[in-house]
Amino acid sequence: MTGKLAPSILSADFAELAAEVAAVADEADLLHVDVMDGHFVPNLTIGPPVVRSLRPRTDLHLDCHLMVDNPGVLLADFAEAGADGCTVHVELGDPRPLFEFMRGLGLRVGLSYNPETPFDAVRPYLDDIDLLLTMSVHPGFGGQAFIPAVLDKLAEARRVVDERELPVELEIDGGITAETAPRAVAAGADILVAGSAVFHADEPAQAARMIREAGWGKQR
Ligand code: DX5
Ligand code: ZN
Repeated sequence: MTGKLAPSILSADFAELAAEVAAVADEADLLHVDVMDGHFVPNLTIGPPVVRSLRPRTDLHLDCHLMVDNPGVLLADFAEAGADGCTVHVELGDPRPLFEFMRGLGLRVGLSYNPETPFDAVRPYLDDIDLLLTMSVHPGFGGQAFIPAVLDKLAEARRVVDERELPVELEIDGGITAETAPRAVAAGADILVAGSAVFHADEPAQAARMIREAGWGKQR
């Protein structure tokens, strides 16, 4: 089965964002948008205005990863700006009220958990989500080294989702390269997020293709 590649614009040149996105569009299935508030993680990035500017410039699914303390106050703005899905972190507490809110806004519902957070923390919510995002680095920055220990959690997620035939896509984010992609796919990833390995490459589209082929072979 061919999975999906989600380049993360965190590592793109924000002053050239539309061109950077256009350059990888043929090799991308989603566009991963990392939203950081300087509180949940010690870094500050972008928000709904950038999604609004990107929306008319790409048909790609805009997959917004909210690394923020208070996602509830931003969800309506993301939906209105043109986001397709939003992912919130389980470390904030019971996400069900946020899920309901997201559904009402027409957003696809994602849930993420950090490398040190056990799979059991997300297990109770698998019936309520469209996407489970396993973090394979500590959230906050691009360009970090892949943490292989999270593959056990991803494999457990794969087992549970398959056993229960749940319509949940499994995404992995952080340190994905052509070297780590095959391990993530073997553990069960449907969607690979890759930031620096794509946008810091000399040829981003070629780098994206190599990650895809490393994961799933030449099937596209
Ligand atoms: C990290 C972000 C990632 C980041 C991944 O907090 O959630 O999406 O862009 O970057 P790379 O692929 O460089 O590890
Ligand atoms: Zn991310």
